[in-house]
Amino acid sequence: MNRFAPALLAIGVLWSSESEALDLEQRRVEAMLQRMCARCHAVGRTGTSPNALATPFRYLGENKLYDPDFTQRLQDGYSSIHRAMPTARFSREDAEAVVSYLRAIQEPRKAK
Ligand code: HEC
Repeated sequence: MNRFAPALLAIGVLWSSESEALDLEQRRVEAMLQRMCARCHAVGRTGTSPNALATPFRYLGENKLYDPDFTQRLQDGYSSIHRAMPTARFSREDAEAVVSYLRAIQEPRKAK
């Protein structure tokens, strides 16, 4: 093993986790959703929802998130998605950022 191998390995690991890491904007959205939604939903990549009926955000599923209608509903006000949420309207920019964040954290639901 040449003496640079460990360094190259470290670079490789950093590189591959880079694509998984949330960018600044996504972390801003995560903090916003933590404030607004974490009372009921598991917001990040781990954890269970405090409200058992509220889907953890990482399991919402790509189909919903790729539906342009979803972004629109975030802007129209929350009750257009579900009634449990006190009305919150997102600007178009924020709605798009929310969808980008949610897409970044999606994972297949594990079989129980
Ligand atoms: C007071 C509790 C509560 C809060 C706060 C809350 N939710 Fe929910 N959410 C629920 C419940 C309960 C459900 C499932 C039942 C339903 O759809 O009404 C749900 C469902 C959802 C769904 C899935 C709807 C579907 O059609 O599958 C989305 C998306 C969602 N919430 C997003 C959010 C976002 C984004 C926020 C923060 C801005 C938020 N929720 C805040 C309780 C909450």
